[in-house]
Amino acid sequence: MTLYFAPLEGLTGGVYRRAHAAVFGGVDKYFTPFYSPSSIGLSKKEMAELDEDDRAITIPQLLTKRASDFLIAAAQLHALGYREINLNCGCPSGTVSAKHKGAGFLLCLDEMRAFFEELFDCLDGVAPGMCVSVKTRIGYGAENEFPEILDVYNTYPISQLTIHPRLRQDFYRGSLRLRAYHYAEQYAAMPLCYNGDVFSATNYSAFLEKVPKASCIMLGRGAVANPALFLELRGENVGDKRARLREMHDRILEENRRRMGDGKSLLCRMADLWNYQRFLFENGEEACRRIRRAANLAEYRAAVATLFRECPLLPNGAYCSPDL
Ligand SMILES: Cc1cc2nc3c(=O)[nH]c(=O)nc-3n(C[C@H](O)[C@H](O)[C@H](O)COP(=O)(O)O)c2cc1C
Repeated sequence: MTLYFAPLEGLTGGVYRRAHAAVFGGVDKYFTPFYSPSSIGLSKKEMAELDEDDRAITIPQLLTKRASDFLIAAAQLHALGYREINLNCGCPSGTVSAKHKGAGFLLCLDEMRAFFEELFDCLDGVAPGMCVSVKTRIGYGAENEFPEILDVYNTYPISQLTIHPRLRQDFYRGSLRLRAYHYAEQYAAMPLCYNGDVFSATNYSAFLEKVPKASCIMLGRGAVANPALFLELRGENVGDKRARLREMHDRILEENRRRMGDGKSLLCRMADLWNYQRFLFENGEEACRRIRRAANLAEYRAAVATLFRECPLLPNGAYCSPDL
């Protein structure tokens, strides 16, 4: 099974990805949270960020509906040594989709065709050998939109299609619409990657019964909650998971501190992580509340030390979606 780490804006930035790769690993590709290129492409800061990543396993993701902006960013990324770019056609946020980007792009398929037409006409000229993969939902407001959406993707040389089988209206909740995924298994012209609600070894087995042909899966919230998930799904020995979690946490904290300083934004960034990792620990919710209440770095460190000292790891700790 090929396993990808999904992009999660605010959580899986470069500092996080590098700490994960060093301490846990088991990931075939990491997808960056989205970058929105402008008419001059990616900013200096964004390029500097991407320059720190391992080109062999990192795929930059772009969110745009303008082929010209994509092409400028593609030339920049090509110069940095990247050979795959992922297009975001799934972001459900109101501000993004109102501009017909992300999942909003699924509402204007004529515009999307024109986008891909221009993109693939010019791509080889500006970024030779660059692959374009797409991460998509199955529609905006209704499942029956999917055949026409897939028809657009099938017209172009998209290298891989990652499908989160929900509508924009579903956000990240509610039942998966596996019928649409099975439709793609039958009719997609490119290799597929499945994404959605694989949170533990147990529900992975249940998932494989429902989608037995899956050969590539992208893990998101489940992996942020449990960074060992990739190794666990591969049946590899994780060893001292607690010590590895601590090491990964400490690397992220120190690296973020170096970049962001000791202030509130550092504490908020770290607390966002604990909103997911709390699922691994007994009484994790209470411990996480203390972590979130920390008023400064010293209090934060003390709250984290208490959690690692006093909260045992749950034997089957895993992300739990609010509606599951
Ligand atoms: C906080 C958050 C941020 C996200 N940011 C991105 C993003 O930048 N790009 C993207 O394609 N998807 C983004 N997603 C969607 C995830 O990549 C993934 O598709 C989603 O969480 C479903 O997979 P899961 O059930 O394994 O979590 C985000 C999801 C969450 C919850």
